[in-house]
Amino acid sequence: MYQATSVIELRQYVQHWKDHGQTIAFIPTMGNLHAGHMSLIEKGRSLSDRTICSIFVNPMQFGPNEDWDHYPRSLEADIEQLEAIGCDLVYLPTASELYPDGLDKISKVQVTDLTDNYEGAHRPGHFTGVATVVLKLFNIVRPDVSVFGKKDFQQYRVISKMVEDFNLDVQIIGQETTREPSGLATSSRNQYLDAQQKEKAAMIYRTLQQAAAGIDRGERDFRALEQDAIASLDDAGFKTDYFSICNAETLLPATPEDRDLVILVTAALGATRLLDNIEISLW
Ligand code: PAF
Repeated sequence: MYQATSVIELRQYVQHWKDHGQTIAFIPTMGNLHAGHMSLIEKGRSLSDRTICSIFVNPMQFGPNEDWDHYPRSLEADIEQLEAIGCDLVYLPTASELYPDGLDKISKVQVTDLTDNYEGAHRPGHFTGVATVVLKLFNIVRPDVSVFGKKDFQQYRVISKMVEDFNLDVQIIGQETTREPSGLATSSRNQYLDAQQKEKAAMIYRTLQQAAAGIDRGERDFRALEQDAIASLDDAGFKTDYFSICNAETLLPATPEDRDLVILVTAALGATRLLDNIEISLW
């Protein structure tokens, strides 16, 4: 596997591959790679000739009370996993090259509408940081396709909208969430859960499945379904931030006329905020 740290170096590899008519898949990450990331890389590999993964803990998407310094970093293990799965190149940008004049001076990408609620409301500025770094990375790498995990469903929609709004020439692929046998979505944050919490955390997906089954059976009082789900999670010891039945495209509260839905949930167990979602098609 090749490694590049500078834009010039990275572009040399990409240009060489493009000159040989090869297509490129790109998977941006913040490292601390797990099975979920590996499924993104595998998807990229299945869709293109070359697969590039970036590892960059992007300071712009961390809020003032979020711990950029303590974000888990495991570069050696990440590189081993990427080699083993057949990634062609790992790009390790430096903050000084991506943000040469600091975070305040650089132009920023604001994706409208989709960023007001849910994680956008909980983490002001977060999606601006995500969209800005992803746009920069797309322009540096110039991939044909880029794969995002649907576990972060709002992020996946924000990136898709940025690509539409700015006519970017890259295809965005949403990859299904990887789960543990219990149903718990794979996440870097699972490492903060003890064994008992981990068992309990599986309730989040069960609750999503129950609500989805209700909707499939024809229940249309979405607000009542949301309240029931929040009550049962909170009764079990979660602190539920939101459990929202939404239109899967706009992320607005779903109406009975909507056909493509997603239920977004974030619930904290102790100090750990867990995100998950389920898509429902009523066609
Ligand atoms: O999902 C992530 O790991 C990050 O938000 C991303 C897309 C790599 C941007 O920094």
